[in-house]
Amino acid sequence: MFGSKKITQKQVEEALSTVMDPDLHKDIVSLGMVSEIKIDGGKIAFKLTLTTPACPLKEKIEGDARAALQAIPGAEEITIETDAQVRAPLNEKKSIEGVQHIIAVTSGKGGVGKTTVSVNLAVALSRLGAKVGLLDADITGPNCPVMLGVQDYEPLGKNNRIVPAENYGIKCVSMAFFVAKDTPIIWRGPMLDRAIKQFLSDVDWGELDYLIVDMPPGTGDAQLTMAQATKLSGGIIVTTPQEVALLDGRRGLAMFNQMSVPILGFVENMSYFQPEGSSEQYEIFGRGGGKKLALDSNVPFLGEIPLDPKVRVGGDIGDPITNSDPENPTALAFLDIAKQVAHQISVHSLMPTPAAASAK
Ligand SMILES: Nc1ncnc2c1ncn2[C@@H]1O[C@H](COP(=O)(O)OP(=O)(O)OP(=O)(O)O)[C@@H](O)[C@H]1O
Ligand SMILES: [Mg+2]
Repeated sequence: MFGSKKITQKQVEEALSTVMDPDLHKDIVSLGMVSEIKIDGGKIAFKLTLTTPACPLKEKIEGDARAALQAIPGAEEITIETDAQVRAPLNEKKSIEGVQHIIAVTSGKGGVGKTTVSVNLAVALSRLGAKVGLLDADITGPNCPVMLGVQDYEPLGKNNRIVPAENYGIKCVSMAFFVAKDTPIIWRGPMLDRAIKQFLSDVDWGELDYLIVDMPPGTGDAQLTMAQATKLSGGIIVTTPQEVALLDGRRGLAMFNQMSVPILGFVENMSYFQPEGSSEQYEIFGRGGGKKLALDSNVPFLGEIPLDPKVRVGGDIGDPITNSDPENPTALAFLDIAKQVAHQISVHSLMPTPAAASAK
C-alpha cells in the first residue's frame, strides 16, 4: 500500500456501477442494491441487497462486483455481505397489507399438478429464505391442507381475523378448515366469490414475501374473482406435455393476458419418468411441449418436473418432497423453478409490463 493513493468511496461506487443486473438491464448502484460501503486501507466491504433471497443470479452479481472492486488500484480484500429485500411492484398499491406479491398457480386442465406445484414451490421459496403463504382458492375441491400436512387444523380467530395454519414455515388457509370432512361443497359463483375475497381480506397473513394461490382447474369464476379482487404480481401455468393439456395451457395464457396479469411462465409437470438407479428416462406423456408452448408464446419456461412416485407419496402424507428430501433431483427441480419464479417477480416488479404501466 505504501505510496499508493487511498481508495475513495467514489472509486468504489464507480466500480460497482459497472456491475449490471443481467435481467433488469441496470447497474446495481442505480437499482439501490449497494449500501454500507466501508474502506479500510486495501480492504473494501459493502452490503449487496438482492431483490429476492431466491436470486438465481446471486453468484454472478457477487462475482462481477468482486472483480470490479479488485480492479481498483490498491484493493486487497473484498467483503460482500449479501441480504435480500423483496420489493412490491413499482407504484402499485398492495392488495393485502404486509403481503408483497400474490402469485396464482393455474392450469386450463384438471389434475396436472397445480396443488403439487403450489405446495412444493411454497416450501422451496421458504427454504431459500422467503416468508411464504399458501392460499387454497380451490373452494370446492381443497387439497392444500392434506399436501401440507395441516388437514386437522381447527381454525382460530384473532381480532376478527382468521389465523392461518402453519407447517414447514408456510402459512395456509383453505376452505377445508371450515367444512366437515367428506361433505361435498356445492356452491355457486357468488358464494365462491365471497369465500375467496374473505381469504384475501380477513386472514391474518402477517408479513409475507410471496403468497402462492392454488387455483381450481379451468378459467372460471375463481380466476375472475382473483384477478378482479386483488393485484396479482403474476401467474404460473402448469401443464403436462401431451397435446390436450397444452391446448388448455394456451387457454390459461389467454386468460391471464385478458386480465393483464403478468405471466411468470410455464411449468411442465410429469415430463418424464426415471426409475431409481437407472439413467433411462421414459417420456410417458411426451416431453418438451411446455417448453415449446412457452417459446411459441414468448413467455418464460420455468422448468420441468419428472413423474416421481415420491412426489405423489409426499402429497398423500403431507410431507412435500422439497421438505422431506431436499437434495433429491426432483426436489432440486422444484427449487430451481422457485428461483426462476422469484427472479421473474423481481423483473416484473422493477420493470412494469406495458399493460401494468398503462393501467396506472
Ligand atoms: N410430478 C409428479 N409425480 C408424481 N405424481 C404427481 C406429480 N405431480 C402431481 N402428482 C400427483 O397427481 C395427482 C394430481 O395432482 P394435483 O392434485 O397436484 O393436481 P391439480 O392440478 O391440483 O388437480 P385439480 O385440478 O384436481 O386441482 C396427485 O395425486 C399428485 O400427488
Ligand atoms: Mg388442485
